[in-house]
Amino acid sequence: MNAARSVADALVSCFTPPEPEKNSSNTFNDSSASSSGSRQRRNSNQSIYGSSNGSTHSREPGSVKFTMEEILKATKNFSPSFKIGQGGFGTVYKGHLEDGTMVAIKRAKKIVYDKHLGVEFQSEVKTLARVEHLNLVRFYGFLEHEDERILVVEYVAKGTLREHLDCVNGDILDFASRLDIAIDVAHAVTYLHMYTDHPIIHRDIKSSNILLTENLRAKVADFGFARLAADSESGATHVSTQVKGTAGYLDPEYLKTYQLTEKSDVYSFGVLLVELITGRRPIEPKREIKERMTARWAMKKFLNGDAITTLDPRLVRSPANNFAMEKIFELSLQCLAPHRKNRPTMRKCAEILWSIRKDYNELSTSDEIQE
Ligand SMILES: Nc1ncnc2c1ncn2[C@@H]1O[C@H](COP(=O)(O)OP(=O)(O)OP(=O)(O)O)[C@@H](O)[C@H]1O
Ligand SMILES: [Mg+2]
Repeated sequence: MNAARSVADALVSCFTPPEPEKNSSNTFNDSSASSSGSRQRRNSNQSIYGSSNGSTHSREPGSVKFTMEEILKATKNFSPSFKIGQGGFGTVYKGHLEDGTMVAIKRAKKIVYDKHLGVEFQSEVKTLARVEHLNLVRFYGFLEHEDERILVVEYVAKGTLREHLDCVNGDILDFASRLDIAIDVAHAVTYLHMYTDHPIIHRDIKSSNILLTENLRAKVADFGFARLAADSESGATHVSTQVKGTAGYLDPEYLKTYQLTEKSDVYSFGVLLVELITGRRPIEPKREIKERMTARWAMKKFLNGDAITTLDPRLVRSPANNFAMEKIFELSLQCLAPHRKNRPTMRKCAEILWSIRKDYNELSTSDEIQE
């Protein structure tokens, strides 16, 4: 019952229409490049934490607990002009902390806030507070006050990978950038999976959870669905839990057994790789039946030696692109193996992608020489 509801929640959030206000303001800079500096500034400037709104306690330097006063100030009382998006969790605002740090503020929907989402919220808070990696969206803190549940995270200026694949800003993401993004994501998820003491399974890897910086570096967002991976010392090999995630990216073995392992992320990553190559969404409901499930369609074409017909029509057909496309599809096929034991680890994926990029760069140079 719970599992069915969770899938329904995931579907709703998956098909939430894009925000019309998105990208309506260019007045903010990408904070990602200076996030650690900003954090230091925040920690060293005690005065900004000293104020109190009377309803919540004062903030300790470096504390992850925000006050309502800070949040209201940062978002100009949740001004609609600060709204940057909408997702399963709620509404996302951009904000400006007193020391100048740009942040994204995720405000949980009140209507759907119940015990169930509360657990998810706590999970996101605990997980985000622990992790720090160049390719993961930085967690700054949270606020739990009366019926408000708010997360404060790093603001990543250039929107989601999905928007870039859709050319929302008019620029086409070239093949080399897509390969770099795949490597960034593989590194971020490897870091989560290999996290000391407590391996972390992301559970919702998808193109709308990958944010891009000014330099087109990828940052993986949203640990709302994260749960601690099996504790190797306890001898457990999986965590039994409710089905969570987004339609089109879900590991079929997890759907069948409810057993979650790091390999569920590897499956979603395989779907993401196909999305990067084809530019299509994992599910394309308007296409003819055999093309609706993008990964299935592309893998079939690949196995029939016809992969080139699936390449995003916006991408150049060059020897280097064609070579890397075949190699990436070879990796996707392994990631999409129906049984998790046949899928590579995320670390292996990162290694394979590194070697593809090395060959790709050499081939690109020789393409240029021949031209
Ligand atoms: N850290 C951030 N920096 C900048 N924009 C963000 C940030 N986080 C989210 N956004 C924007 O807000 C939108 C909604 O994000 P949110 O995470 O709530 O939903 P989602 O990822 O689209 O779906 P789901 O709820 O299933 O994860 C994103 O698509 C993105 O445009
Ligand atoms: Mg998200």
